[in-house]
Amino acid sequence: MAERTLTYGFVGAGFNAKFHLAALRQLRGIEVAGVVSVAGAAEFAALARGWGLGSTQVYGSVGEMAKHVECVAVCAPNDARIAIVEAIADAVKAGAELKGVICEKPLGRNVAEARRLVELAEGAGLRTAYFENQIHMKPIRVQLAQLEPLRRQMGPLALARSAEEHGGPHEGWFWDPTRQGGGVLCDMGCHSIAVGWYVLTPTGKPLTFLEPQEVTADLGLLKWGQPAWREKLLKERGVDYAKTPAEDFATGMITFRNPETGQRVKAQFTNSWMFEKQGLRLLMDGMGPGYAFEVNSLLSPLTIFVGDAAAEAIKDAELALEKATASRGLLAVQHNEPDLYGYTDENADARDAFLEGRDAALTWRYGLEITTLVMAAYLSAEQKRVVDLTNPATQRALETYVPLIQQGRGAEQLY
Ligand SMILES: NC(=O)c1ccc[n+]([C@@H]2O[C@H](COP(=O)([O-])OP(=O)(O)OC[C@H]3O[C@@H](n4cnc5c(N)ncnc54)[C@H](O)[C@@H]3O)[C@@H](O)[C@H]2O)c1
Repeated sequence: MAERTLTYGFVGAGFNAKFHLAALRQLRGIEVAGVVSVAGAAEFAALARGWGLGSTQVYGSVGEMAKHVECVAVCAPNDARIAIVEAIADAVKAGAELKGVICEKPLGRNVAEARRLVELAEGAGLRTAYFENQIHMKPIRVQLAQLEPLRRQMGPLALARSAEEHGGPHEGWFWDPTRQGGGVLCDMGCHSIAVGWYVLTPTGKPLTFLEPQEVTADLGLLKWGQPAWREKLLKERGVDYAKTPAEDFATGMITFRNPETGQRVKAQFTNSWMFEKQGLRLLMDGMGPGYAFEVNSLLSPLTIFVGDAAAEAIKDAELALEKATASRGLLAVQHNEPDLYGYTDENADARDAFLEGRDAALTWRYGLEITTLVMAAYLSAEQKRVVDLTNPATQRALETYVPLIQQGRGAEQLY
């Protein structure tokens, strides 16, 4: 039987979409048929074609592309989500035969936006994939498999700690809290909260089996609010953190309850854009009774050394590591970041699901749950209190809550 292929159309042709291309090179059964982007579409199409990923066409609109592909992958900035998904839903209503739609993290900048996306997709009868790559990371999946007998015999993990940190994003819009949704908590807290919840979840149980009980969080503007760094940000990224700052540090704790046993477990998250090491670091660990695991993405089997004399020859430090900050000395190099970070496996999952006519492992409804936890963390930090997620009044308040920082009023909270 001929192998079935899913045709993708990308919306957005930036950093993230290109990371996906690098992941798709490692997979069979996905063809990149189209791209729509404000900028960079022709270059992206040439890259995809050059890598043998398909006859990638540049389209002028999402609606037009949706007629020619089976899956639309939304990899555009966060503030463009709703208009893009409205265009996809309209195209489906006008006859486009999409098998599924992918959305990168975060699903929405707040709960109302994320819920709107879920309703648009469900209203159009679309199968969904929420792209949270860290849940698909091979080191995360392998530790789960390896420790499965221990979890069964000794009991589940009681504590998970997850961190994603780097020195700050690559494009100006990420730094603008009104466009991105906030600072590092919105941008990367969604990853760490999701992966923490996931590793704590007992084997075979649904992703949302453990019930979130309460959230506490603390935010800071520890580096990029200082005058010299603020100036650099204004010059290089066009955002003024004197007027509209966002947090560059976030940490917090979510308590979950196992509804079958009553056991309470905790997931701690830490995220920063002020990480002064080699580049992006993912750090996850978990503690069970008598066993543990740890993932550290900066520990690579490959290191290279670049001395001062040779350093000028290294033009692009990101060749070594995402968000690399140094191009000389002893450098950690990850030889396959798309695979390490889970991009290949999330695309394989979406391919199999959509070709079989079902939702991917992580749906947009799941993405909405993550947005709700992120918003609860903002609320906790803003009001300096424990947010009780079992309280119906709090649940209602979160539906329309827009953090001060996202409103552009972060100075009131962070200075
Ligand atoms: N999973 C991850 O770890 C990860 C990593 C990076 C980014 N992301 C997510 O991917 C998304 C894109 O981020 P990025 O880093 O690629 O940003 P980027 O700024 O590098 O690229 C954005 C791309 O979208 C295009 N674009 C802008 N507005 C558009 C619109 N209205 N319609 C179509 N195209 C539009 C831009 O021209 C650009 O090509 C964000 O939602 C981000 O949160 C996820």
